[in-house]
Amino acid sequence: MGKIAAPDEVLYHIGISAQMIKGAKYALLPGDPGRVEALAKALGPAEPVGCHREYTSWLSQVEGEAVLVCSTGMGGPSVAIGMEELACIGIENFIRVGTTGSIQEKVALGDIVINKAAVRLDGTSQHYAPTAFPAVASLELTYALQQAAKDLEVPYHTGISVSSDTFWPGQERYDSFTGYVRKALQGSLKEWQALGALNYEMETATLFVVAQSFGLKAASICGVVAKRTDSEQVAPADTYRLASERFQLVAKRALQDLIKAGK
Ligand code: URA
Repeated sequence: MGKIAAPDEVLYHIGISAQMIKGAKYALLPGDPGRVEALAKALGPAEPVGCHREYTSWLSQVEGEAVLVCSTGMGGPSVAIGMEELACIGIENFIRVGTTGSIQEKVALGDIVINKAAVRLDGTSQHYAPTAFPAVASLELTYALQQAAKDLEVPYHTGISVSSDTFWPGQERYDSFTGYVRKALQGSLKEWQALGALNYEMETATLFVVAQSFGLKAASICGVVAKRTDSEQVAPADTYRLASERFQLVAKRALQDLIKAGK
């Protein structure tokens, strides 16, 4: 067991305390603060609990239990900072709900990707465990997400993410300010494809390594908003809407099942 904050201590970055989250053990972690309210309301009766920096927090109810929805902002550093403080106020299960770019033909726009592991193309996780240490999801949480997607007949894929600190060079995008991708990353998209990785995003490797280093659980579910086998562009808003409707439904069903099972 790690450090637990006093019930009324408001933590510096996330701006919330243990008593404000009413015993919540699960946190859903979208990147975008703008997605928190809708996600919390989709789970059940919800109320805002805090808003500081990139961390917007709402508390919702699933099967009579409090569930926190807290944004993390983009990329590993803010994920790790949020997780450090969320763990101190009692969160034990971290489920990222985000967006992603598919790198395989079979993974379509609007589909769901459930990541069982991630390539550590981030910097933050190196501060928690050496590069040889794997970034892997909780089997229990991942299975619950898969089962929920199956039950709801949502198109989903399970596989490995490539978690990059950058949206452009690390994901081998050339439509950047300079158009340059450094030599070491040129051809990297093809290599990840050949190795069977499914998607690019920016948070999952950090999430998995930090959770493992805490002895806590993490999983990741993303909606596909870019299809890199066709284009470097992010798809229009209707795809984003479809993807987010789907990951909301799946995350809610998985939480219901986990909480009903007393997990
Ligand atoms: N998020 C990413 O990091 N990459 C994409 O292509 C889409 C969403």
